[in-house]
Amino acid sequence: MMSAVSPVIAENAETEYTIDDVRNLQDFLLTKPTENLSGKNYDLDSDNAWTVFDLCLMKREVFSPDDEQENTLVVYFSRTGNTEKIVDITGADVFEIEAKIPYTDEDMAYNNSTCRANQKQNDKNCRPEIAQSVDNFDSYDIVYLGYPIWWYVAPTIINTFLESYDFSGKKIVLFATSGGSGFGKTVDGLKGSVSADTEIVEGKLLNDKLSENKLKKWVESL
Ligand SMILES: Cc1cc2nc3c(=O)[nH]c(=O)nc-3n(C[C@H](O)[C@H](O)[C@H](O)COP(=O)(O)O)c2cc1C
Repeated sequence: MMSAVSPVIAENAETEYTIDDVRNLQDFLLTKPTENLSGKNYDLDSDNAWTVFDLCLMKREVFSPDDEQENTLVVYFSRTGNTEKIVDITGADVFEIEAKIPYTDEDMAYNNSTCRANQKQNDKNCRPEIAQSVDNFDSYDIVYLGYPIWWYVAPTIINTFLESYDFSGKKIVLFATSGGSGFGKTVDGLKGSVSADTEIVEGKLLNDKLSENKLKKWVESL
């Protein structure tokens, strides 16, 4: 087990740790060069040494799952279930976009050029109505927004969703599933539905080849 003695053990004062503290302690334990850490209160378990246990405790404080997720909302639209995959991964609140008039299988038969889904996609100004609304939308800063790719872009009901709330200053992380196409121009198609100070991040295509483990790593990296 890795163990090291701290240069100076600080008084056991209440400390609010940051990501920089995690990095400092990690570097110290790996004997990498660090800034002067004298006086830092890194002895979280009070055993008069800075050890890997202190690092674990510190990480738990800094990366508390509750803290991380409380301002995060996962929103998804999924007609055949593929796009739901990420929902369990984040542990955040979830909102499913459901069309006010539900899509039937017939509506979704996209090989038929006049099926309802195709009609809604052909008219870029179409804004299909959504059945419910998000409670306390203002309390969320990060919104993961997932959808199936329909004719290389997001379904127009996603534009309806974006235009229903004030996303100013918020961050939107997109995810999608498809039958094989990439994200294409979906980001461009959505930007017009939010204000200029909304950050939209092109996330991942969650097609089958992406394992749950990789998904978790991706969510953590955000
Ligand atoms: C109207 C319509 C258009 C579609 N267009 C595409 C497409 O352009 N490229 C693609 O790879 N898949 C396309 N698909 C397939 C869906 O993107 C894919 O099946 C997706 O995983 C469905 O997600 P869901 O199960 O969450 O609804 C289309 C499906 C529908 C219904």
